[in-house]
Amino acid sequence: MSLSNRHLLGLHGVPKEDIQLILETARTFREVLERPIKKVPTLQGKTIVNLFYENSTRTRISFELAQKRLSADTINFSTSTSSAKKGETFKDTVRNIEAMKVDMIVVRHQSAGVPQYLTRISKANIINAGDGIHEHPTQGLLDMYSIREKFGRLEGLKVCIVGDVAHSRVALSNIFGLKTMGAEVSVCGPATMIPLGIETLGVKVYHRIDEAMAKNEVLNVLRIQLERDAGKRIPSLREYHKFFGITSERIEKHNREIVILHPGPINRGVELSSEVADGPYQVILDQVTNGVAVRMAVLYLLGTMH
Ligand code: CP
Repeated sequence: MSLSNRHLLGLHGVPKEDIQLILETARTFREVLERPIKKVPTLQGKTIVNLFYENSTRTRISFELAQKRLSADTINFSTSTSSAKKGETFKDTVRNIEAMKVDMIVVRHQSAGVPQYLTRISKANIINAGDGIHEHPTQGLLDMYSIREKFGRLEGLKVCIVGDVAHSRVALSNIFGLKTMGAEVSVCGPATMIPLGIETLGVKVYHRIDEAMAKNEVLNVLRIQLERDAGKRIPSLREYHKFFGITSERIEKHNREIVILHPGPINRGVELSSEVADGPYQVILDQVTNGVAVRMAVLYLLGTMH
Protein backbone atom coordinates (compact mmCIF):
# COMPACT_ATOMS: atom_id res chain seq x y z
CA MET A 1 0.00 0.00 0.00
CA SER A 2 1.33 3.44 -0.86
CA LEU A 3 0.10 7.02 -1.18
CA SER A 4 -1.07 8.37 -4.52
CA ASN A 5 1.17 11.49 -4.39
CA ARG A 6 4.85 11.88 -3.43
CA HIS A 7 4.17 15.25 -1.72
CA LEU A 8 1.69 16.30 0.99
CA LEU A 9 0.72 19.84 0.04
CA GLY A 10 -2.81 19.89 1.45
CA LEU A 11 -5.85 17.66 2.04
CA HIS A 12 -7.81 19.12 -0.88
CA GLY A 13 -8.29 16.29 -3.36
CA VAL A 14 -6.45 13.68 -1.26
CA PRO A 15 -8.36 10.40 -1.74
CA LYS A 16 -10.10 8.67 1.16
CA GLU A 17 -7.82 5.63 0.76
CA ASP A 18 -4.73 7.83 1.32
CA ILE A 19 -6.20 9.40 4.47
CA GLN A 20 -7.20 5.96 5.76
CA LEU A 21 -3.69 4.63 5.07
CA ILE A 22 -2.08 7.55 6.95
CA LEU A 23 -4.44 7.17 9.95
CA GLU A 24 -3.94 3.38 10.11
CA THR A 25 -0.15 3.73 9.82
CA ALA A 26 -0.24 6.40 12.54
CA ARG A 27 -2.00 3.92 14.82
CA THR A 28 0.95 1.54 14.64
CA PHE A 29 3.39 4.40 15.31
CA ARG A 30 1.21 5.55 18.22
CA GLU A 31 1.95 2.16 19.80
CA VAL A 32 5.69 2.64 19.18
CA LEU A 33 5.47 5.90 21.18
CA GLU A 34 4.30 3.92 24.24
CA ARG A 35 7.35 1.59 24.19
CA PRO A 36 10.36 2.14 26.48
CA ILE A 37 12.53 2.61 23.34
CA LYS A 38 10.47 4.84 21.05
CA LYS A 39 12.58 4.46 17.94
CA VAL A 40 12.45 2.41 14.71
CA PRO A 41 15.11 2.25 11.94
CA THR A 42 12.63 2.88 9.09
CA LEU A 43 14.15 6.10 7.65
CA GLN A 44 17.79 5.39 8.48
CA GLY A 45 19.98 7.09 5.84
CA LYS A 46 17.30 9.65 4.84
CA THR A 47 17.99 13.35 5.35
CA ILE A 48 15.12 15.71 6.13
CA VAL A 49 15.26 19.49 6.44
CA ASN A 50 12.68 21.44 8.43
CA LEU A 51 12.41 24.78 6.64
CA PHE A 52 10.49 27.10 8.98
CA TYR A 53 9.99 30.69 7.80
CA GLU A 54 7.24 31.28 10.38
CA ASN A 55 7.12 30.68 14.14
CA SER A 56 6.05 27.30 15.46
CA THR A 57 6.25 25.31 18.67
CA ARG A 58 4.11 22.19 18.16
CA THR A 59 4.56 21.49 14.45
CA ARG A 60 8.33 22.04 14.34
CA ILE A 61 9.11 20.00 17.46
CA SER A 62 6.60 17.32 16.46
CA PHE A 63 8.16 16.90 12.99
CA GLU A 64 11.67 16.86 14.43
CA LEU A 65 10.72 14.27 17.02
CA ALA A 66 8.91 12.16 14.40
CA GLN A 67 12.03 12.23 12.20
CA LYS A 68 14.27 11.22 15.11
CA ARG A 69 11.87 8.42 16.11
CA LEU A 70 12.21 7.10 12.52
CA SER A 71 16.04 7.35 12.68
CA ALA A 72 16.29 9.98 9.89
CA ASP A 73 18.98 12.67 9.89
CA THR A 74 17.30 15.97 10.70
CA ILE A 75 18.35 19.54 9.95
CA ASN A 76 16.49 22.58 11.26
CA PHE A 77 16.44 25.86 9.36
CA SER A 78 15.03 29.02 10.86
CA THR A 79 15.03 32.44 9.19
CA SER A 80 16.30 34.31 12.23
CA THR A 81 19.68 32.50 12.17
CA SER A 82 20.05 31.97 8.41
CA SER A 83 21.46 33.91 5.44
CA ALA A 84 17.86 34.85 4.56
CA LYS A 85 18.60 37.68 7.03
CA LYS A 86 21.39 38.83 4.65
CA GLY A 87 18.96 38.96 1.72
CA GLU A 88 19.40 35.50 0.17
CA THR A 89 16.32 34.62 -1.88
CA PHE A 90 14.06 31.70 -1.00
CA LYS A 91 14.97 29.95 -4.27
CA ASP A 92 18.74 30.28 -3.64
CA THR A 93 18.29 29.05 -0.07
CA VAL A 94 16.42 25.96 -1.26
CA ARG A 95 18.88 25.26 -4.10
CA ASN A 96 21.81 25.41 -1.64
CA ILE A 97 20.10 23.13 0.86
CA GLU A 98 19.19 20.73 -1.96
CA ALA A 99 22.85 20.64 -3.08
CA MET A 100 23.61 19.02 0.29
CA LYS A 101 21.50 16.03 -0.87
CA VAL A 102 18.33 16.20 1.21
CA ASP A 103 15.52 13.70 0.60
CA MET A 104 12.55 15.51 2.13
CA ILE A 105 11.65 19.12 2.96
CA VAL A 106 9.08 20.07 5.59
CA VAL A 107 8.12 23.70 5.00
CA ARG A 108 6.20 26.34 6.94
CA HIS A 109 5.82 29.73 5.29
CA GLN A 110 3.70 32.83 5.73
CA SER A 111 2.78 32.79 2.01
CA ALA A 112 0.16 30.42 0.62
CA GLY A 113 1.47 28.29 -2.25
CA VAL A 114 5.12 28.05 -1.17
CA PRO A 115 5.02 24.22 -0.77
CA GLN A 116 3.58 23.92 -4.29
CA TYR A 117 6.35 26.21 -5.59
CA LEU A 118 8.96 24.02 -3.85
CA THR A 119 7.81 20.98 -5.85
CA ARG A 120 8.91 22.89 -8.99
CA ILE A 121 12.38 23.87 -7.78
CA SER A 122 13.32 20.79 -5.74
CA LYS A 123 13.44 17.02 -6.30
CA ALA A 124 12.77 16.27 -2.60
CA ASN A 125 9.43 15.07 -1.20
CA ILE A 126 7.65 18.21 0.07
CA ILE A 127 5.45 18.30 3.17
CA ASN A 128 3.40 21.42 3.94
CA ALA A 129 3.68 22.35 7.64
CA GLY A 130 1.35 25.35 7.18
CA ASP A 131 1.33 27.87 4.32
CA GLY A 132 -0.24 31.25 5.10
CA ILE A 133 -4.01 30.98 5.38
CA HIS A 134 -4.13 28.08 2.91
CA GLU A 135 -3.63 24.59 4.43
CA HIS A 136 -2.03 22.74 7.34
CA PRO A 137 -2.55 19.12 6.28
CA THR A 138 -0.77 17.31 9.12
CA GLN A 139 -2.85 19.33 11.63
CA GLY A 140 -6.01 18.23 9.77
CA LEU A 141 -4.81 14.61 9.89
CA LEU A 142 -3.96 14.69 13.59
CA ASP A 143 -7.32 16.29 14.33
CA MET A 144 -9.07 13.49 12.41
CA TYR A 145 -6.94 10.89 14.21
CA SER A 146 -7.88 12.39 17.60
CA ILE A 147 -11.60 12.56 16.75
CA ARG A 148 -11.57 8.96 15.51
CA GLU A 149 -9.70 7.86 18.65
CA LYS A 150 -12.48 9.38 20.77
CA PHE A 151 -15.54 8.24 18.76
CA GLY A 152 -14.19 5.20 16.86
CA ARG A 153 -15.35 6.69 13.54
CA LEU A 154 -15.47 9.82 11.38
CA GLU A 155 -18.32 8.85 9.05
CA GLY A 156 -21.51 10.70 10.00
CA LEU A 157 -19.95 12.61 12.91
CA LYS A 158 -21.02 16.23 13.28
CA VAL A 159 -17.97 18.48 13.58
CA CYS A 160 -18.13 22.27 13.88
CA ILE A 161 -15.07 24.49 13.32
CA VAL A 162 -15.43 27.55 15.52
CA GLY A 163 -13.93 31.03 15.33
CA ASP A 164 -11.51 32.79 13.00
CA VAL A 165 -12.20 30.58 9.96
CA ALA A 166 -11.20 33.36 7.54
CA HIS A 167 -7.54 33.29 8.65
CA SER A 168 -7.32 29.58 9.31
CA ARG A 169 -5.31 27.01 7.36
CA VAL A 170 -6.40 24.48 10.01
CA ALA A 171 -10.05 25.11 9.07
CA LEU A 172 -9.52 24.40 5.37
CA SER A 173 -7.52 21.20 5.97
CA ASN A 174 -10.17 20.02 8.44
CA ILE A 175 -13.00 20.78 6.02
CA PHE A 176 -11.35 18.94 3.10
CA GLY A 177 -10.21 15.94 5.16
CA LEU A 178 -13.32 15.48 7.28
CA LYS A 179 -15.68 15.77 4.32
CA THR A 180 -13.67 13.18 2.38
CA MET A 181 -14.03 10.86 5.38
CA GLY A 182 -17.81 11.33 5.50
CA ALA A 183 -18.19 13.68 8.48
CA GLU A 184 -20.84 16.44 8.53
CA VAL A 185 -18.83 19.64 8.78
CA SER A 186 -20.03 23.10 9.82
CA VAL A 187 -18.41 26.39 10.81
CA CYS A 188 -19.44 28.92 13.45
CA GLY A 189 -18.25 32.46 14.11
CA PRO A 190 -19.00 36.13 13.63
CA ALA A 191 -19.95 36.96 10.02
CA THR A 192 -16.68 38.92 9.63
CA MET A 193 -14.69 35.74 10.32
CA ILE A 194 -16.58 33.39 7.99
CA PRO A 195 -15.51 33.64 4.32
CA LEU A 196 -18.35 34.52 1.95
CA GLY A 197 -19.45 31.48 -0.06
CA ILE A 198 -17.90 28.89 2.26
CA GLU A 199 -21.16 26.91 1.90
CA THR A 200 -19.96 25.94 -1.59
CA LEU A 201 -17.45 23.64 0.17
CA GLY A 202 -20.43 21.73 1.55
CA VAL A 203 -20.34 23.14 5.08
CA LYS A 204 -23.23 24.57 7.11
CA VAL A 205 -22.75 28.01 8.71
CA TYR A 206 -23.81 28.94 12.26
CA HIS A 207 -23.53 32.41 13.75
CA ARG A 208 -24.74 31.41 17.25
CA ILE A 209 -22.44 29.23 19.31
CA ASP A 210 -25.26 27.74 21.40
CA GLU A 211 -26.98 26.46 18.25
CA ALA A 212 -23.67 24.98 17.01
CA MET A 213 -23.13 23.29 20.39
CA ALA A 214 -26.65 21.87 20.40
CA LYS A 215 -26.17 20.25 16.98
CA ASN A 216 -22.54 19.02 16.95
CA GLU A 217 -20.56 16.30 18.72
CA VAL A 218 -17.15 17.89 18.15
CA LEU A 219 -16.04 21.52 18.29
CA ASN A 220 -12.66 22.27 16.73
CA VAL A 221 -12.00 25.70 18.23
CA LEU A 222 -9.61 27.97 16.36
CA ARG A 223 -7.23 30.59 17.66
CA ILE A 224 -8.10 34.22 17.01
CA GLN A 225 -5.09 35.10 14.83
CA LEU A 226 -4.16 38.53 16.12
CA GLU A 227 -0.90 38.50 14.12
CA ARG A 228 -3.03 38.30 10.95
CA ASP A 229 -5.19 41.33 11.97
CA ALA A 230 -8.13 39.27 13.22
CA GLY A 231 -8.59 41.89 15.97
CA LYS A 232 -9.94 44.31 13.34
CA ARG A 233 -12.84 41.95 12.55
CA ILE A 234 -14.35 41.99 16.05
CA PRO A 235 -15.18 44.86 18.43
CA SER A 236 -13.01 43.42 21.24
CA LEU A 237 -11.63 40.11 22.53
CA ARG A 238 -13.93 40.47 25.56
CA GLU A 239 -16.97 40.71 23.31
CA TYR A 240 -15.77 37.75 21.23
CA HIS A 241 -15.45 35.67 24.40
CA LYS A 242 -18.93 36.70 25.54
CA PHE A 243 -20.61 35.61 22.29
CA PHE A 244 -18.37 32.78 21.01
CA GLY A 245 -16.07 31.72 23.86
CA ILE A 246 -16.40 28.09 25.00
CA THR A 247 -16.98 27.99 28.73
CA SER A 248 -17.93 25.19 31.17
CA GLU A 249 -21.32 26.84 31.72
CA ARG A 250 -22.03 26.74 27.98
CA ILE A 251 -20.99 23.08 27.70
CA GLU A 252 -22.91 21.94 30.78
CA LYS A 253 -26.06 23.75 29.64
CA HIS A 254 -26.26 21.36 26.68
CA ASN A 255 -26.11 18.23 28.86
CA ARG A 256 -24.60 16.03 26.08
CA GLU A 257 -21.18 14.74 25.08
CA ILE A 258 -19.18 17.46 23.35
CA VAL A 259 -15.49 16.98 22.59
CA ILE A 260 -13.33 20.10 22.29
CA LEU A 261 -10.26 20.28 20.04
CA HIS A 262 -7.89 23.22 19.64
CA PRO A 263 -4.78 23.25 17.40
CA GLY A 264 -2.87 25.56 19.75
CA PRO A 265 -1.52 27.96 20.73
CA ILE A 266 -4.56 28.90 22.85
CA ASN A 267 -5.63 32.45 23.69
CA ARG A 268 -6.92 31.61 27.17
CA GLY A 269 -10.01 33.59 28.09
CA VAL A 270 -10.76 34.36 24.42
CA GLU A 271 -11.77 31.30 22.39
CA LEU A 272 -11.66 28.95 25.40
CA SER A 273 -11.98 29.66 29.11
CA SER A 274 -9.01 28.34 31.09
CA GLU A 275 -11.37 25.92 32.83
CA VAL A 276 -12.32 24.37 29.47
CA ALA A 277 -8.71 24.43 28.18
CA ASP A 278 -7.66 22.26 31.14
CA GLY A 279 -10.95 20.46 31.71
CA PRO A 280 -12.54 17.06 31.02
CA TYR A 281 -14.16 17.90 27.64
CA GLN A 282 -10.96 18.72 25.75
CA VAL A 283 -8.39 16.45 24.03
CA ILE A 284 -5.82 19.16 23.31
CA LEU A 285 -2.72 17.40 24.61
CA ASP A 286 -3.87 14.09 23.08
CA GLN A 287 -3.85 15.97 19.75
CA VAL A 288 -0.22 16.94 20.39
CA THR A 289 0.81 13.35 21.22
CA ASN A 290 -1.11 11.98 18.22
CA GLY A 291 0.58 14.60 16.05
CA VAL A 292 3.96 12.88 16.43
CA ALA A 293 2.48 9.52 15.33
CA VAL A 294 0.64 11.10 12.39
CA ARG A 295 3.79 12.90 11.23
CA MET A 296 5.78 9.66 11.58
CA ALA A 297 3.18 8.01 9.32
CA VAL A 298 3.39 10.76 6.68
CA LEU A 299 7.21 10.80 6.72
CA TYR A 300 7.38 6.99 6.56
CA LEU A 301 4.85 6.66 3.72
CA LEU A 302 6.45 9.42 1.61
CA GLY A 303 10.03 8.48 2.50
CA THR A 304 9.61 4.84 1.44
CA MET A 305 7.74 5.51 -1.84
CA HIS A 306 9.39 4.20 -5.00
N1 CP B 1 -0.94 23.91 15.68
C1 CP B 1 0.17 24.54 15.25
O1 CP B 1 0.42 24.64 14.04
O2 CP B 1 0.94 25.05 16.24
P1 CP B 1 2.37 25.75 16.01
O3 CP B 1 2.10 27.05 15.30
O4 CP B 1 2.95 25.95 17.38
O5 CP B 1 3.19 24.84 15.15
